[in-house]
Amino acid sequence: MSEMLTIRIDGKECTCEKGEYLYDVARRNQIAIPVLCRSDAFEDHRACCRICIVEVEIRGRRKVDTSCVYPVEQECDVYTKSEKILEERAVILTLLAHRAPDAKRIADMNAGMGMDGFERLVTIDHEKCILCGLCVQACSSLGTGAISTVMRGTDKKVDTPYDKPSEFCVGCLSCANVCPTGAIEYTQDERTRTIWNRTFDLLFCEECGELMGTPEAERHAVGAEGDIPTVCDACRKKHLANEMMHTYRYV
Ligand code: SF4
Ligand code: FES
Repeated sequence: MSEMLTIRIDGKECTCEKGEYLYDVARRNQIAIPVLCRSDAFEDHRACCRICIVEVEIRGRRKVDTSCVYPVEQECDVYTKSEKILEERAVILTLLAHRAPDAKRIADMNAGMGMDGFERLVTIDHEKCILCGLCVQACSSLGTGAISTVMRGTDKKVDTPYDKPSEFCVGCLSCANVCPTGAIEYTQDERTRTIWNRTFDLLFCEECGELMGTPEAERHAVGAEGDIPTVCDACRKKHLANEMMHTYRYV
């Protein structure tokens, strides 16, 4: 059995396993620490935005750490809203606001902070992406790998190779759905969806008419040999339940 520790976060006693990440302990104890690059779908994707910084005090010595990758190894006091943390988080948010001025979530988090001293910083026009990498992670975890980070410096961005429609994209929207700032745009009408410069037909459930996704995404999910489903999960479950009821009635 793993060793248990008791730590204090903003004065509240919290029990955790040795090695558990501080952010996870705080969250389990309903103590809110702001995050941008964390997603429950990708547990290992951390430490990109630095918004989750906290102050950790051990034996009277305090230092600032990134809570989502800070393993608790000994008893400590943690401060998520100390003056130092609020100041440093404001600096990080100001930098992100210059990187992604059109990202509403960053603007909302930054509201009222109005920091001076950043006048010489380049603001990237019409940008929402903070380069957290969650979308690339989502795409590669599906095995599609249609997007990656390209270019350098202020031109750095997430894109398909050579900004061309990718033959590997399946139009599943995993990238857009995981993005914390709404940076990945797509359009959809009654029959088609367009994302990353590629247009896909939409697939609907033959029974209830619910949108199921794209044929390419379903094909990718079932593999080359599998049959693309024609009914949605809910209708399939209903069928299964009916079949089971029928079976039990006649045994
Ligand atoms: S597009 Fe969104 S998810 Fe992808 S790197 Fe940018 S902010 Fe992160
Ligand atoms: S949430 Fe910890 S660095 Fe982004």
